[in-house]
Amino acid sequence: MTSAHQGLTGLLDTEAIRKDFPLLDRTVHDGKKIVYLDSAATSQKPRQVLDALNAYYERHNANVHRGVYTVAEEATALYEGARDKVAAFINAPSRDEVIFTKNASESLNLVANMLGWADEPYRVDHETEIAITEMEHHSNIVPWQLLSQRTGAKLKWFGLTDDGRLDLSNIDEVITEKTKIVSFTLVSNLLGTYNPVETIVRRAQEVGALVCIDASQAAPHMVLDVQALQADFVAFTGHKMCGPTGIGVLWGRQELLEDLPPFLGGGEMIETVSMHSSTYAPAPHKFEAGTPPIAQAVGLGAAVDYLSAIGMENIARHEHAITEYAVRRLQEVPDLRIIGPTTAEDRGAAISFTLGDIHPHDVGQVLDEQGIAVRVGHHCARPVCLRYGIPATTRASFYLYSTPAEVDALVEGLEHVRNFFG
Ligand code: ALA
Repeated sequence: MTSAHQGLTGLLDTEAIRKDFPLLDRTVHDGKKIVYLDSAATSQKPRQVLDALNAYYERHNANVHRGVYTVAEEATALYEGARDKVAAFINAPSRDEVIFTKNASESLNLVANMLGWADEPYRVDHETEIAITEMEHHSNIVPWQLLSQRTGAKLKWFGLTDDGRLDLSNIDEVITEKTKIVSFTLVSNLLGTYNPVETIVRRAQEVGALVCIDASQAAPHMVLDVQALQADFVAFTGHKMCGPTGIGVLWGRQELLEDLPPFLGGGEMIETVSMHSSTYAPAPHKFEAGTPPIAQAVGLGAAVDYLSAIGMENIARHEHAITEYAVRRLQEVPDLRIIGPTTAEDRGAAISFTLGDIHPHDVGQVLDEQGIAVRVGHHCARPVCLRYGIPATTRASFYLYSTPAEVDALVEGLEHVRNFFG
């Protein structure tokens, strides 16, 4: 800790936590210690998750829900046990409301397709509307564009204010009596903005629209309580919350999952099949056709255990302190413009910025030479870049293992970038 760090409160014991993450110990470019500031893209994985994956493959690997032999029963118990852990983690009223997918994109596509094939009262057609926002990740834009093209439903969206928040001034025009579904991100992956859920949900409920929340940038960082959110669907991914890639979650309200049709057909999602027709298994299995991502679910279960042991409130407090410090320090860098909220209130730990007219790819490359890993580009949220008239941003994002010293390293790295480009 330097004197600049005095007064930072709520920090976790990162010295202990970082020992759990083998990758954080590695060096790049001739011995430079890695400064990993790209957790919004994917988090690093603790040893506990890596061990759970290994133990699964070394001792319990078999297909699930099929075998009567010991190892197959163990695999099923581990897979279904992971569902229990995720259900508890998000305060789901029932474990049967937790559907495993391969990532958040698949979860959001699943919702769009459920509605696309649904009967009344859920059916989306040319007389209905879909509402999203301009700050969505492409995974919460493109599935709705596809649904709109297929059904003729009108796609509407909330615009953005100059300071990177949702412009809800026309909420009654964006969400109308015709709206069937409102889908929005809880925390923006590019801007970092935390959105006012209650206001949007209240309006959606007024008109009887369903609500789908993309919690990909929220689930890893804060207490996620699906009952408190009062949404109908919540999507997130495992790899941003210390879990492996290849596993995502869609939580949905039980009665909806009972009523809505499946999207993918295949093994394990049926009750009975004849050559003429089939009937379906109850949720969640109705939505999990084929061999699921078993090891990945087990890994996600271990990640949930890991995060829960530290405590999501503690993680949120740590990230808030780091974000507050980073927002302050970054604004001291000449020519740096934060794209998104410039205070730590109502924002997550992903901070995007531009640096004069230096292209973000050049910024990223010079930072990499110093061992600092950030993401550059449009972050799969290109409409946000268009809105602010920029081609791309540099994004630094923080997690439970991030330290104030890493913020300092970033600021020093940016000074180096400025000197390099004159
Ligand atoms: N959605 C991830 C990001 O924002 C990949 O970087």
